[in-house]
Amino acid sequence: MAVERTLAILKPDCVRKNLQGEVIARVQKAGFKILSMKQVRLTKETAGAFYAVHKGRPFYDGLVEFMSSDACIPLALEKENAVADFRKLIGATDPKEAAEGTIRKLFADNKGENIVHGSDSPENGKIEVAFFFSERELV
Ligand code: RTP
Ligand code: MG
Repeated sequence: MAVERTLAILKPDCVRKNLQGEVIARVQKAGFKILSMKQVRLTKETAGAFYAVHKGRPFYDGLVEFMSSDACIPLALEKENAVADFRKLIGATDPKEAAEGTIRKLFADNKGENIVHGSDSPENGKIEVAFFFSERELV
């Protein structure tokens, strides 16, 4: 299996609930190497650009509003098979459908406010890590 990079974002609900440490501990226990992380407050423009693939969908405006509503914590992660393994760790988009023991099942309130983002392909993993981090910030 190839070593991959994936981008996680601890979303504003995670920060508001003070679950940052809890979620990061689970990420580390699952074997992900943290190459970098930082706390940022996204503007609507930046949140909209990050989720541009969803532009036009009914949930897009709410998603942009939510992602810019408070601090977020992007993390650049590395591991063998990182993209699929991270999505397995966080569970389905809707916490009602997420498997037992997954981060979204444990901590998320609903499909919109679901605690954490994970890249959906190795290619997007690289693109999304570069969206938040320069190469020299990845250690
Ligand atoms: P993410 O990109 O944040 O990791 O989530 P995902 O792949 O599991 O889901 P995606 O389809 O990419 O949707 C992106 C985010 O938009 C919000 N959403 N709300 N209310 C809704 O029907 C709905 N659908 C999507 C969620 O915050 C979702 O994570
Ligand atoms: Mg997605």
